[in-house]
Amino acid sequence: MNFQITLHEYAEDKKINWYLNSEHSVMCLIPFSYPSTEAKSLEADSDLMRREGAKIHSFLITLNKAYHKTRKFKTIYINYSDDSEYKNTRLLDSFLEGFELANYQFINRKSDPKDNLFKLETSFSDKLSSASVMGTFIARDLVNEPLSHLNAEKLSTLLEKLSKDSGFTLEVFHEEKIKKLKMGGLLSVNKGSIAKPTFNILTYKSKNSKEINPIVLVGKGVMYDTGGLSLKPTLNSMDMMKCDMGGAAAVIGVISALASAKADCYVVGLIPAVENRPGGDAYVPGDVVTMMSGKTVEVLNTDAEGRLILADALHYAKQYNPELVIDLATLTGSALRAVGKYGIVAMENYKNNFFNKISENMRSLVSVGDIVGERVVVQPFWDDYGQELESDVADIKNLGGSEAGHITAGKFLEHFVDYPWIHLDIAGAAFFKQDYLYHKKGGTGIGVRLLVAWIATHRLS
Ligand code: BES
Ligand code: ZN
Ligand code: ZN
Repeated sequence: MNFQITLHEYAEDKKINWYLNSEHSVMCLIPFSYPSTEAKSLEADSDLMRREGAKIHSFLITLNKAYHKTRKFKTIYINYSDDSEYKNTRLLDSFLEGFELANYQFINRKSDPKDNLFKLETSFSDKLSSASVMGTFIARDLVNEPLSHLNAEKLSTLLEKLSKDSGFTLEVFHEEKIKKLKMGGLLSVNKGSIAKPTFNILTYKSKNSKEINPIVLVGKGVMYDTGGLSLKPTLNSMDMMKCDMGGAAAVIGVISALASAKADCYVVGLIPAVENRPGGDAYVPGDVVTMMSGKTVEVLNTDAEGRLILADALHYAKQYNPELVIDLATLTGSALRAVGKYGIVAMENYKNNFFNKISENMRSLVSVGDIVGERVVVQPFWDDYGQELESDVADIKNLGGSEAGHITAGKFLEHFVDYPWIHLDIAGAAFFKQDYLYHKKGGTGIGVRLLVAWIATHRLS
């Protein structure tokens, strides 16, 4: 059966209201002030529309549960009413986005998969919005796949196909090449594992792009994190650790989206992919690792592995002469404790970096985050934090003190960059235990819509 959702502006209220119009239709009333073109209302209104789209989606799911199979809704139409004055496409796109993002299921591993999804008959006005929803689904699928079905080499095989489908180029380094490059961080983390590591380079440059300096995205690809020999100590904390490649998944989602929408930009994605396990040859606390950059690192906790593989990738990024490097990583429990599941914590090596002085790039990233509903919170990044990484035996150690662990992790990474750089710790928002807003239980694909929107607008400014 078909279901119609009608949007209509409404003068007399400050919030969105909706009601059942008939058995097959909902009327959604949007306050008149929403379609205003004023930039200041853009953030709040877009995300309120997105949240409303997800709420109506969940209402329809409830109806379908109650209805007999002959009467269940399958096809959904979403439009403005004919006598609507504004027919604001930005608001409609936000609503569609919320509905679509809520309309996701991961059923790849069911033996008898049942697709309970709605078929949406309305298309986005902005092709980048629809591409970023598709990119978010790619990222969610990758996070939701367990290690049994997605290790580093399988990820690279999957990327081969995706690169052809979406239109980006791919280069994969296997173990031999990684050894030749002396990526000591990556190799050490993977030592306890039987499966081989890979290093993946995704490149997308639009036909017309005259850019010489790419934006480089680096994604933490720990396909599974047991903690290694410093085995995760907290009860059940390992259950969700297939999400430890959430940064890698986001980078893949972003580049797929930009490439399939043929967005005008030059972007490179770097993904070091490993698994962190105890094993006969696993690296041990106390080991000193020589990184690709030549720096030596004393490993005091094998569970602080993300920074070791990212460091090699960040060093590798130097050869691109990048305009900006952004890394995404489920890096620390400390980031999760700082902001919960509600946002992303960010740091940067901007030189004017006493608190509240942030780069233009960071400023626009925060503002795009508010619009797309993937919020970014800038953290202090004083050099004092870095002192905690001093080592007795090597250049630095991979562990700071017990406080502000997300910032000392950022300080560790800073040792390996010599270009403008932003670090996004997505540990809080990458994986949910329950449905929340337009996110489903499991991988959220956080970071994809943020960076697709940011890269698209960055070029214009
Ligand atoms: N992958 C974890 C961080 C994480 C925690 C991701 C929760 C997603 C949800 C990371 O590798 C880790 O274990 N970090 C340690 C570092 C510590 C040993 C310095 C942490 O944050 O506890
Ligand atoms: Zn870890
Ligand atoms: Zn990890």
